[in-house]
Parts: sequence; C-alpha cells; structure tokens
Amino acid sequence: MPCAVIDLKASFMPTPSRVQLIDVGPRDGLQNEKQAVPASVKIELVHRLQAAGLKEIEVTSFVSPKWVPQMADNAEVMAGLQRQSGVCYSVLTPNLQGFEAARPTRPDEIVVFGAASEAFSQKNINCSIAESIERFAPVVQAALAAGIAVRGAMSCTVGCPYEGEVAPERVAYLAGLMKRIGVQRVDVADTIGVGTPLKVQRAIEATLQHFEVRHISGHFHDTYGQALSNTLAALHMGVFNFQSSVAGLGGCPYAKGATGNVATEDVVYLMHGMGIETGIDLEALVDAGVFISDFLGRKTQSRVATALLNKRAG
Ligand code: HMG
Ligand code: MG
Repeated sequence: MPCAVIDLKASFMPTPSRVQLIDVGPRDGLQNEKQAVPASVKIELVHRLQAAGLKEIEVTSFVSPKWVPQMADNAEVMAGLQRQSGVCYSVLTPNLQGFEAARPTRPDEIVVFGAASEAFSQKNINCSIAESIERFAPVVQAALAAGIAVRGAMSCTVGCPYEGEVAPERVAYLAGLMKRIGVQRVDVADTIGVGTPLKVQRAIEATLQHFEVRHISGHFHDTYGQALSNTLAALHMGVFNFQSSVAGLGGCPYAKGATGNVATEDVVYLMHGMGIETGIDLEALVDAGVFISDFLGRKTQSRVATALLNKRAG
C-alpha cells in the first residue's frame, strides 16, 4: 500500500501574528495547593506576571471556602493589587452570592464555569448543567449591567474524570446555552489533560457553532503531555487566546490526578519561536515562575524555564 502523503500547507490555516495569553496561575494554579499560600504571595505573583507583560490574569475565585479553602482570601488578594492600566483582572463566580462578593473588588471580568459532562458539573459545582445555566443567567445579567465582561469556562470538553470521552455534541450544547444567556467569550477546557489535537479541534469546531473564533480560548491541562500540541492544533484553527499557568502550576480539586495547565513559559517560547508576538518578556516570566516555585518548595513544571535556568546556572 502506498504511504499517505499529507499536504501540510492545505491542512494548516494561516497562523495569527499575535496571541493573547491569560495567566490562570494565581487561580487555577494555586486553588489546589494544600499548603497555605498567604495573600501577600498571591499578590506578589500577580505583580510579577503583569511586570512580565501579561495583559490578562485570572486572580482568584469567589467560591465556597468549604469547597476550595485556598481561595478564601479572594477579597484580600483583589484589594492588595496594584493595578496596571491595560491589564484585565478576572475572577470566577459560580453564582449570585459569588458575584455579589466579587463585585466590590472591581474585577474587569467574571467567569461562570460550567461543564460539558453532567457528572463533572455535579462534582464541581453541585448541580446539573441545566441548573448551572439557571444560576449563571442572573450573574451574567448583573455583570453586564455593571459593565463587567463575562467569560464562560467549559470544562471537560474532550474528557471527563467520571464519564470518560465527551462527544463534541455535548460541547456544542453547552456553548449554545452559554451564548443564550449572554456569555461573551468561552474557554474550551481540557480539564484533565487527556485531549489530543484532533479531539481538541473537534471541541473547538463544536464551539464555533455558537462563538466566533476571536471569542474562544484554549485552556489545556498537561496531564498527558499533550497541551502544547493541542495549543498548536487550536492555533492552526485561528484561535489566538490561550490560558496557561506560570511554572505549570495547578489542577482542579474535583478532577483527581489532573496536573496543572500548560506552562505559560512553554507557550511563550513556542509562540516566539514561530514568530508570533505575545508581548511577554520570557526571562521576567521565568523569574515569576521561580518566585512561586521557590515559595511552594518545588521545581517549576515548565520545561522551558528549566532549560533557561540550567543555561543561566551554566
Ligand atoms: P452548594 O453547596 O450547592 O451551594 O455549592 P449552596 O448555595 O447550597 O450554599 C451552601 C453553602 O455554601 C452556604 O454556606 C453558602 O453561603 C455557601 P453555609 O450556609 O453552609 O455556611 N456558598 C458560598 N460561599 C462563598 N461563595 C459562594 C458561595 N455559594 C454558596 N459563591 C458552589 C455550590 C458552587 C458554591 C460550590 O459547589 C463551590 O464552591 N464549588 C467550588 C468549585 C470550584 O471552585 N472548582 C474549581 C474551579 S473550576 C476549574 O478549576 C475548572 C477550570 O479551570 C476550567 C477547566 O480546567 O476545566 C475553570
Ligand atoms: Mg483548569
């Protein structure tokens, strides 16, 4: 049988010349930490990220402190920020109670977070997908009325820790619900990092039924080491918003075994290597990663940071 010859030029869309990275390290990265991380350390991390050139930072979440104790200092962290103009500070709000608590802290954007899998919705936010949309609708309305932007995170768009593979139709269904209640942009999340490029592309294709590509971001955890490949696959579909965690911090408390997001340093290195602008100073970003990794008493999960630190040491 003759070998199949793949026409790479035909299958790849022109890549964007610039990408926007949202560092979710202070929230997604730290929410799962067992050891106490003082508000002052979280604030310093945000300051270092913005100094490195990040224009979007997911700072904290206004969720139940019984469910996620690490985020209990949400208001203190928000209050301690020395904000830089042009930077968008976002926070997670699962319900009106969270939104009312978040509002005085002046977030630029709030994030409602749902799941494409019923089981994960139940485990993570204690309600069905349909119930979650009912809870989100007044939050979205209130935020938009207050001039606060609204993002929707869609968990388990390729796989669920409880249900296994998730069909693209489930993603399209959730994206449609998010659109209907007024969510302005959405994150296609591979919560447990099981996705591979074609599966991720199918989840994005499903989302494109309801949102324009500029309103879609990729949020890839790196459990199986596929997050950079998935990033590239999304990039080739024209996606130019990506979420990542400095030093590869993180995981979700309700997705056991899942590791952190793809490291921001690794995404920046990939983009710069492809001639794509990020506006981020990689060396300063590596230093931000060293700061938080040193505090946590462990090595960075970023391959690029590790390589650059070895080079510095050498
Ligand atoms: P519930 O128990 O169903 O809520 O939790 P409830 O309305 O029945 O209230 C029960 C108690 O919670 C009450 O307190 C409320 O006051 C309190 P009590 O009377 O028992 O003392 N409560 C709250 N407290 C503070 N802030 C609030 C709030 N709401 C209720 N907003 C709830 C529902 C959503 C609150 C709960 O399930 C929860 O907090 N879950 C946390 C989920 C979470 O933070 N998960 C991690 C983030 S998502 C993620 O990481 C995925 C993502 O990265 C994308 C991806 O990778 O997939 C975004
Ligand atoms: Mg996540």
